[in-house]
Amino acid sequence: MALRIAVLISGTGSNLGALAQAIDEKTCDARIVAVLSDRASAQGLAFAAQRGVPTAVVAMRDYPDRAAWDLALADKVSEFAPELVVLAGFMRVLGAPLLERFPRRVINVHPALLPLFPGTTGPEQAIAARMRVSGCTVHVVDSGVDTGPIIAQGVVRVLPGDTADTLHERIRGAEHQLYPRVVDAIARGQVTLDPEVRVHGAIDDAVALLSPVFPAFPMSPPGAGASS
Ligand code: GRF
Repeated sequence: MALRIAVLISGTGSNLGALAQAIDEKTCDARIVAVLSDRASAQGLAFAAQRGVPTAVVAMRDYPDRAAWDLALADKVSEFAPELVVLAGFMRVLGAPLLERFPRRVINVHPALLPLFPGTTGPEQAIAARMRVSGCTVHVVDSGVDTGPIIAQGVVRVLPGDTADTLHERIRGAEHQLYPRVVDAIARGQVTLDPEVRVHGAIDDAVALLSPVFPAFPMSPPGAGASS
């Protein structure tokens, strides 16, 4: 029985598209029961509607305060009775009502190798730190910002001349491979979201798949000012 997932987005929804594609190709044993957004302009909403997937907008400005919005979002998500809540570019920190209603059943994809570079500027931070690799992290959502238990990570290279945007695009490519695999592994019980987030073989394979075998590190020619 396909895992019922609700996908929460704020923008483009390319990860939503990757999940939908994997579901169509039967490599992800899930069913998208709803796509929800805090922004009516989120492009992914139109994509969902075209597929006949129910959509809903829960915009912060329609509620008197943050607490009321948190409650409304939790109520709206609950209406679709998902077994897993999948954040895919949802740009708000989730409040207690949703997390309490779906304990350890909310996951997120983040464009950096957590615990490095949390927050909204993961690719920018990786560039600024002159990292040679970066990547994406799929993790369980807790009350912190990008602090929940890590389920899986995918690694990409940071190339000379990369900007935050070019790096983010490469990271998105890794996300599109990894996120559907994680959802599929949860659907098949290969990842158990108990307090210890037990992870089994499938995700190890996914990480191996996404980690390119790097070419040999370029060495200086013999005698060219080597120092130790
Ligand atoms: C992704 O890079 C994800 O890591 C971050 O937000 C971005 C969403 O991209 N949380 P998209 O809307 O799925 O294209």
